[in-house]
Amino acid sequence: MIKHIQSPVFKAISQVADRYDKEAYVVGGFVRDLILKRPTTDIDVVVVGSGIELAGAVAKKLGGVKVYVFKNFGTAMFKYQGLDVEFVGARKESYQRDSRKPIVEDGTLEDDQNRRDFTINALALSLNEKSYGKLVDPFHGIRDLEAGIIRTPLDPMVTFSDDPLRMLRAIRFAAQLGFRIEENTYEGIVSQKKRLEIVSKERISEELNKILLSKKPSVGFKLLEKTGLLPMILPELQALKGVEKINGIGHKDNFYHTLEVVDQLAEHSDDLWLRWAALLHDIAKPRTKRFDPKLGWTFHSHNYVGKKMVPKIFNRLRLPQNDKMKFVQKMVELHMRPIVLSEEEVTDSAIRRLLFDAGDDIESLMTLCEADITSKNEVKVRKFLRNFKIVRQKLKEIEEKDRIRNFQPPVSGEEIMETFGLPPCKIVGEIKAAIKEAILEGTIHNEYEEARNFMLQKGKEMGLKC
Ligand code: CTP
Repeated sequence: MIKHIQSPVFKAISQVADRYDKEAYVVGGFVRDLILKRPTTDIDVVVVGSGIELAGAVAKKLGGVKVYVFKNFGTAMFKYQGLDVEFVGARKESYQRDSRKPIVEDGTLEDDQNRRDFTINALALSLNEKSYGKLVDPFHGIRDLEAGIIRTPLDPMVTFSDDPLRMLRAIRFAAQLGFRIEENTYEGIVSQKKRLEIVSKERISEELNKILLSKKPSVGFKLLEKTGLLPMILPELQALKGVEKINGIGHKDNFYHTLEVVDQLAEHSDDLWLRWAALLHDIAKPRTKRFDPKLGWTFHSHNYVGKKMVPKIFNRLRLPQNDKMKFVQKMVELHMRPIVLSEEEVTDSAIRRLLFDAGDDIESLMTLCEADITSKNEVKVRKFLRNFKIVRQKLKEIEEKDRIRNFQPPVSGEEIMETFGLPPCKIVGEIKAAIKEAILEGTIHNEYEEARNFMLQKGKEMGLKC
C-alpha cells in the first residue's frame, strides 16, 4: 500500500497530522479503487479532530494552495496536482425517518467506518508516520473486494434506512464493478425500497447515468427491476416487461430487448445520451400496442409517441431539458429509418431524406440502429448487417455528391423575393420548400444554377413575374 501513497499530498498530510498529534486516514472510494487498480483523482481524508483545521495547515505546507471550506458540512477541500483532496472530521451519524440528512457528532475512526455504505467503501489507510500505509479493515472489505461482493457493514436494514440512496449505489457498484450483491444486503434493498421516496431525483439520475455508463448496463437495470425499485424510478421502462399472447401469437419482451440494445450499443459508444436513446427507443411500445388478426402485434408510430414521452421523463428525473434531450428525442424518432431502408431497395432519395433529417447525428443513428438488431436468427442478423453496410456506403457517396447533411438552401428567401418582387409571404416559403423537395427527390442537384432555374420555372407555373 505504501508505494501507492507517495504523492507529496500524502506526505504533507502525514507530517502535519503528526505535528498536531491527530490521527489521519485516507478512506473510502480512493482505497477501494487503489486496490481495484481503477484510476481515481478523488481523495477523502478523515481526521480524528477538525478536518477544516488540518486542511488549512496542509495547504499552507504545500504552499499557495486555495482551500474551500464548507462550514455547514464540517469539510474543506483543495485541488493539488490534479487531485481533489477533501478533509472531514471523523463522525458518528444518526438519522431521522424522513430525511437523508443525518444528525452528526464527532466520533472515532471506528464510528466513521460504521456509518459507511459498504464494506468495500469502509477501508482506511493510516497516514501517520508510525503506521504509514497500515490498512484498517474492520468489516473484511478486502475479502469482499477480492470476492467481488457488495455488502453493508452493519445490518442492511439500518444502512439502507439511514440513507436509501445506498440501495441505488449498491446496484450501481454491482454494474460498474461487475460485483454481486450479497443475499442479506439484497433482501435489505427489497424490504426498504419504499424509502427511495425521500431521495432527490437529481441523485437518482446521477446513479442511473453511472449505470448507463457502465460496461454492461443491463446488469444494473435487471437488478433495479428484480428488487422492485424500477417502477418507482422509470415506470415506463418497467411497462416494457412481459409478453402478451393472443391466438397463440406473442410479441417479444421489450424490456429484455431494450437491455440487449443498450448493452450492444455500449460496446460501440460511450456517449451517455446515445445510451439514453437506446434505453428509451421503444419506450412507447406498451402505449401503441395493438393486435391485428391479419398482421399480428403492431406498434404503429411508437417512435413518434416515444419522442413525445422523452421530455416528460427527462423533466421528472431532472435530466437536462436542452440539446442533449433534443438529441435523445431525435434518435427515438428516427430509430427505425435505417432499418426500414435496409429492408427495401436503397434509393438515393431515401438516403438524401435520411441525411437531411439526421444531419450531423447520422453516425450516432446508424450506431443505434445496428445495436437494435437483436434477433437470435443468425442468418437474419447477417443479412441486416450486410444491408447496413450498403446503407453506410450509400450515405457516404450521396453526402460527398450532394452535401445534404448540413443542408443550406442554395437559393435564399431574399433572392426569391427580389426575383419576383414579393414581400415576405407564404409563397416565398412554398418556393423554398419546393426547391428543397426537388433536391431531396433528386430532380435537381444541390447547386445554385440548377436551383435558380428551378425557382424561375416554379414561379412561372405559379403565375409570378420576374
Ligand atoms: N458514502 C456512504 N454513503 C453514501 C455515499 C458515500 O457511506 N450514500 C461513503 C462511502 O464510504 C464512499 C465515500 O462516502 O466511499 C465517498 O463517497 P463518494 O465520493 O460519493 O463515492 P465513491 O465511493 O468515492 O464512489 P464514486 O466516486 O464512484 O461515486
